[in-house]
Amino acid sequence: MTIETGVLQRYSEGAEAVQPELCCPVDYDRELLALLPQEIIDKDYGCGDPSRYVQKGDVVLDLGSGSGKICYMAAQLVGDSGKVIGVDMNDDMLNLARKYQVEMAVKIGSANVEFVKGQIQDLALDLAAMNQHLAENPIATAEDVIHLRAWQEKQRKESPLIADNSVDLVVSNCVLNLVHDSDKEQLIQEIFRVVKPGGRVAISDIVSDELVPPHLKADTHLWSGCISGALQEHEFLQAFVAAGFVAVAYDKWESQAWQVVEGIEFRSVTITATKPSSEPCLDKGHAVIYRGPFSKVYDDEGHVFYRGQRMAVCERSCKLLTSGAYADHFIGIAPVLEQSPQNWHHAPGALRPAAETKGAAHKADCASSGCC
Ligand SMILES: C[S@@+](CC[C@H](N)C(=O)[O-])C[C@H]1O[C@@H](n2cnc3c(N)ncnc32)[C@H](O)[C@@H]1O
Repeated sequence: MTIETGVLQRYSEGAEAVQPELCCPVDYDRELLALLPQEIIDKDYGCGDPSRYVQKGDVVLDLGSGSGKICYMAAQLVGDSGKVIGVDMNDDMLNLARKYQVEMAVKIGSANVEFVKGQIQDLALDLAAMNQHLAENPIATAEDVIHLRAWQEKQRKESPLIADNSVDLVVSNCVLNLVHDSDKEQLIQEIFRVVKPGGRVAISDIVSDELVPPHLKADTHLWSGCISGALQEHEFLQAFVAAGFVAVAYDKWESQAWQVVEGIEFRSVTITATKPSSEPCLDKGHAVIYRGPFSKVYDDEGHVFYRGQRMAVCERSCKLLTSGAYADHFIGIAPVLEQSPQNWHHAPGALRPAAETKGAAHKADCASSGCC
């Protein structure tokens, strides 16, 4: 058995009957659970609650949607103007989630959830379309495999399962660790590809405190049980930074390990991250003040922010630093009079004179971020 076939088999069993070994205690929002069928609640193999990050109107993508629990919780939050897409590679899990689609649409008052078949490390490839193609073009020879690869390339390009820049929020609950190590970098690049510029990620998963040694990684039962495929706690964050995300942070961190294997602690965490906006960095006279408590901080682009100083930033950075994981740490200040936009020309660590921003933070329409 390989890692992938082990994962397929384990979650087919999990769709058929509850697997208590795969359950990790999670404190979900009871109001959102109230509408869910008991079978979906029982066949819960998550380790966190990324539904907490869903906003009204979001297009949400749930990676490894399983029984559909997080999708049906998110569907109650996005409303009619949003939508939720669950992707899973396992037909038994997809069938379980789809079994309740009509019932849930009636209860929620909106048919705003769909479940699609795909591998989360290859979100462009539509596996349902591939099954249909294979039914019409069975594989019998090596040449057939070459033709299949050409078909896959065309399908990814011309009708991707999940299009570029199409999702406001990517969520996932205890799935990234199940993807083969050799595919993990591509997986996170795929997440980056599908999120809209300025869009968000909220992922609950299992991390280890130390690197997992090869003999544990080779254990397919430990892997499919969400243990030995876990990334080490620093590697996990760095993988998102390397893909181009900013504001990458641990929002939740279970102090109590879920499992300890050969002295390695495996625990549940939730990370949040943002894809940078595509707006150009134009200087219109904005500033941010880092609140502290540290004397200075650096962001992932190497910008430094000194505690209590009005630091010159472009409008795009001002919006970014006053939202998401940064929001509690910065005060955004708009210019008194908006300057005509100029390409960014300040030296790193440049300050913004108070005279240029005085009074602007009190503009009524700047109340939330100060960056308007
Ligand atoms: C641990 S369960 C989590 C299910 C669900 N997120 C929840 O909270 O209950 C993992 C799910 O991810 C799916 N899965 C695992 N690896 C996958 C992959 N590479 N691509 C798509 N789905 C995958 C499995 O089929 C299974 O439904």
